[in-house]
Amino acid sequence: MSSQTKIRRNTVPMIAARKGGEPIVSLTSYHAHTAAIVDKYADFILVGDSLGMVMHGMDSTVGVPLDLMIMHGRAVVRGTQKALIVVDMPFGSYEESPGVAFRNAAKVMKETGCGAIKLEGGKRMAETIRFLTERGIPVMAHIGLTPQSSHVMGGFKTQGRDEDTWPAHIEDALAVAKAGAFAVVVEGVVEPLADEITAAVEIPTIGIGASKNCDGQILVLEDMLGLNEWTPKFVKVYGDLGPSIEKAVSDYAEEVRDRSFPGPEQVYK
Ligand code: KIV
Repeated sequence: MSSQTKIRRNTVPMIAARKGGEPIVSLTSYHAHTAAIVDKYADFILVGDSLGMVMHGMDSTVGVPLDLMIMHGRAVVRGTQKALIVVDMPFGSYEESPGVAFRNAAKVMKETGCGAIKLEGGKRMAETIRFLTERGIPVMAHIGLTPQSSHVMGGFKTQGRDEDTWPAHIEDALAVAKAGAFAVVVEGVVEPLADEITAAVEIPTIGIGASKNCDGQILVLEDMLGLNEWTPKFVKVYGDLGPSIEKAVSDYAEEVRDRSFPGPEQVYK
């Protein structure tokens, strides 16, 4: 018998039960190595389709294919033991019909081993969310600023600046909760609207550029690590990975060029 105790992964009901309780910590991750670090601190990890922009240099998330999400999802599942892994459904893989959404979401779950999927949209996705959850696929919803609709929204714009639009956002939150979503990401909405949404729904709200009063928070890992040249205004940058990677690379390049690069015997520890 192994002396190592098996760490149990967080489950969907464990996250759902945190409504109004201890704040939920979450981050995105796309690889096994960063996921292994994040796993020590996060309740759930999102393999977000933001990977198209962050990792693959795309202008938006619209071009992200399903197979890419599956490849990164697998890596994150392999690198982690504790956090619930949620994989984003990319644009075009779920909107057409509940049946198409089920086929693709089932593929993601089977091929990655993740515990849940996330999809964007409020009221308009309620039927699909119900169809998936009734068939064993846990769904995290995503409302407010939904990046896959950036072409319709005219860019990545904060939602709810006009108070007249609030009822539609609150209806979105209520509709996804009623349809069976276990949590909802609330992205890029003005703070008082995010607070109203959190008060209105019985599932945890996960804020990003929304409000500190959401039931949990999520950030894109590379943004908070200071790895991207540009980060959204609302992101607190906790690390300085960009400059420290650049320093390491330039030190190495200098040593190679001036032949001070150490031989193996100087490096062996
Ligand atoms: O794709 C992503 O990383 C996301 C988060 C920003 C919530 O959806």
